Amino acid sequence: MDNSERRYDSNHKLLFTPGPLTTSAGVKRAMLRDVGSRDQQFIEIIADVRRRLLALANVNQEQGYEAVIVQGSGTFGVEAVISSAVPDGGRLLVLVNGAYGERIAAMAKRHGLDVVAMTWSESEAVVPGSVDQRLNDDPAITHVAAIHCETTTGLINPVNDIARCVAKHGRAFILDSMSAFGAVALDLSKVCVDFVIASSNKCIEGVPGFSFVICKREALASCKGNARTLSLDLYDQWAGLERNGQFRFTPPTHVLLAFHRALIELDEEGGVKARAARYDENHQTLVKGMRRLGLQTYLASDVQGCIITSFHYPKDERFEFDVFYQQLAKRGFVIYPGKVSDADCFRIGHIGQLHRRDIEALVTAVGEILTEMGVETGANR
Ligand SMILES: Cc1ncc(COP(=O)(O)O)c(C=O)c1O
Repeated sequence: MDNSERRYDSNHKLLFTPGPLTTSAGVKRAMLRDVGSRDQQFIEIIADVRRRLLALANVNQEQGYEAVIVQGSGTFGVEAVISSAVPDGGRLLVLVNGAYGERIAAMAKRHGLDVVAMTWSESEAVVPGSVDQRLNDDPAITHVAAIHCETTTGLINPVNDIARCVAKHGRAFILDSMSAFGAVALDLSKVCVDFVIASSNKCIEGVPGFSFVICKREALASCKGNARTLSLDLYDQWAGLERNGQFRFTPPTHVLLAFHRALIELDEEGGVKARAARYDENHQTLVKGMRRLGLQTYLASDVQGCIITSFHYPKDERFEFDVFYQQLAKRGFVIYPGKVSDADCFRIGHIGQLHRRDIEALVTAVGEILTEMGVETGANR
């Protein structure tokens, strides 16, 4: 369905989530054909996808960067990097201020890596000065991992400053930019990140099915022989793609066709800058509307990004999240439960094919449902 003929009902749901998310008609249509995994046309699409991914980060192969596609969801890409990059004898420092940082620490432990963590509260950004101090104090740390947009809350970490600090100490930097890449600018020609990970179904607005890693060729080369699993061997995956342009194992063909279309549409929209501007307008419209309804954001605005916003539950015991969620879904709006550990929150994503009028329609529905539930927020609805 075209955005111009959009309807809001239980058969035409809009996803206000961090992915899978609402995709364009063009992206959905791109999947309506079958391609063979060794078909020349498909191999060319894979090459173009890899080239376009590098361009989004403002780098190319001549500058020593590579894009590696890994089948599976975003977590598979993160695990491929963590379990391939950190060698035996290395030590990984994970910067944690939410569930996705915790997940990296957990997967590192599972692989038997030497892992240490620095932790901040879920409402606080990573402090680069403290990372600097820690790297001074612990020369055994070889790799640092951070989250770009901590989707647990919607917080944006100061990635450029963290990257500078990690580079100053000569350590490798791994960035989980899952929910940020494509909408939060990241210029690898200026900022030193060894591995950036994201997935098909976030800000590039494709459908779920693979993750991708943008990395320095030098850093990739140092992964050779480190991997603890066969399928998540980042180096071998790259070597396979380089050898014949094909995947080692069955590729998600339709997902790649959709993603290729999504990359073209991202360009047509005006690239990362234009996408960020639309998401930011969505976010601003949402927060303004929800505050008018008496709902409060969890994060302070100086750490809040334009990807997803966490809202406190209204302080009225008549508010039941499950009822609220079901009523919104009936009207065609799918939101997301909260993930923060120290407050009752729900989340609303504003990425994907969502525009200002969709956000306004959502806010109207939220107001109507709160009134139906008899929930008092202190606002005059
Ligand atoms: C920052 C971050 N990292 C990792 C993931 C995991 O991705 P997936 O659920 O696709 O495995 C997500 C998912 O939302 C995320 O937001």
